[in-house]
Amino acid sequence: MKNILFIASECVPFIKTGGLADVVGSLPQCIDKEYYDVRVILPKYVCIQEPMKNLLTYKTHFYMDFHWKNEYVGILEAEEDGVTYYFIDNEIMFDGATPYGKDGYKEIEKFAFFSKAALSILPIIGFKPDVIHCHDWQTGLVPVYLKERFQGNEFFRGVKSVMTIHNLKFQGKWDVKSMQDITGLAPYYFTPDKLESFKDANLLKGGLVYADAITTVSENYAEEIKTPFYGEHLNGLLCARSNDLRGIVNGIDYDEFNPETDIHISHKYNAMNFRKEKIKNKRQLQAELGLKQDDKIFMIGIVSRLTDQKGFDLIAYMMDELCLDQIQLVILGTGDEKYENMFRHYDWKYNDRVSANIYYSEALSHKIYAGCDAFLMPSLFEPCGLSQLMSLRYGTLPIVRETGGLRDTVVPYNELESTGTGFSFANYNAHEMLAAVRFAERVYYDQKREWNKMVDRAMAANFSWQESARKYQEMYDWLTG
Ligand code: ADP
Ligand code: GLC
Repeated sequence: MKNILFIASECVPFIKTGGLADVVGSLPQCIDKEYYDVRVILPKYVCIQEPMKNLLTYKTHFYMDFHWKNEYVGILEAEEDGVTYYFIDNEIMFDGATPYGKDGYKEIEKFAFFSKAALSILPIIGFKPDVIHCHDWQTGLVPVYLKERFQGNEFFRGVKSVMTIHNLKFQGKWDVKSMQDITGLAPYYFTPDKLESFKDANLLKGGLVYADAITTVSENYAEEIKTPFYGEHLNGLLCARSNDLRGIVNGIDYDEFNPETDIHISHKYNAMNFRKEKIKNKRQLQAELGLKQDDKIFMIGIVSRLTDQKGFDLIAYMMDELCLDQIQLVILGTGDEKYENMFRHYDWKYNDRVSANIYYSEALSHKIYAGCDAFLMPSLFEPCGLSQLMSLRYGTLPIVRETGGLRDTVVPYNELESTGTGFSFANYNAHEMLAAVRFAERVYYDQKREWNKMVDRAMAANFSWQESARKYQEMYDWLTG
């Protein structure tokens, strides 16, 4: 039996802002429980909601030296589907209405505290991991601390670490002086071959230098991040560590995202009966959102964080032209104000055709995956992307830019060979995106049989965790010999 410990900043069903939470929520469940004991450590954010909050039970607490103070570290525990979750409690560190705040300095302090506390609780809970699996910049300090002070401790000897990049854009950067102060690490660590990066201290970089292996969430993104365009100034380091870097594509939870059993959608369907049943979800969605009732109209969905990463400047540029077509557009998302307001504006301007829902809703997201005909995701970069996988599962054909995981998971439609599961375009260019949408419209309106055959293929594509979980297991085995 091998002990695997996930340390991460979000996880379904406790707390979620994006795909990271889906991955940390579903991957541990899919690792073979006969051979691996997988546990997860998370922050106990004050904003964790009922009923999940009620599931956490207090275990113990202690005080830890951190940032010149002696800080309270509470440990809470929960069990879900055979996986044990530990929560680090400190109400001052983890306060706020959302997991991540706007004050950069406080974010650094919060996750430095979290990283140190996560290692410190292990001897207390008596769980000695063979591999610690860290996720994104918030846990970048874990491999550093593990090598630095904890390896001197018998308990931590030989523990391996993996750093998974879900998003290279966010790195946890701050000035070196403050970072030394917060982390308590010696000046030795703040050189360009370690935590320093372009004069600042960089927590993700620390993780990437000190982890025993590095992964990211699609094969294509693993290649892309070695180039200057996608490398976010860490491409040099990633090239240097390319022997230890691999891409393993994300899966989605096939029980949670299943049109046949989905509790959020009004009409269940499957690969056999979608031709008759899927449309009922579209009608329902049109009624619920106050769009024109029209079975025939091409309905495009978007469920996303509204940030530059997702290609919304291309959409903004094309909105008027797009809305001249015979389409309906349903948006669900929150994020940058400029995009929130852009969609509100078009909702006002084209009221019966555009529906902007600027909030977070699990239920509405499922209704969009099920009810729309196509799903638009023209990302500037996309480490993996889960929304397109959810769309495929619901027979809602993705229209994507050929980048990162989108390129690995959506097969572009080929008219001549009658292959493909969606539509794509190559360059980050608004007219190319519009052309891809219009190609989809043409197939939808003029070649319905072809469209439906594509839905067949999309629903048959398999992006469950099975294969990818096996690859993670292989990596854990390789690391531990
Ligand atoms: P990212 O992690 O970059 O945000 P992904 O495609 O990997 O992108 O994952 C996004 C996840 O967040 C999906 O599960 C998607 O359904 C969900 N999501 C994003 N915005 C919302 C929202 N406003 N309401 C509900 N779910 C959302
Ligand atoms: C990040 C990426 C997204 C990926 C998710 C889960 O948020 O932006 O592409 O699917 O992490 O790995």
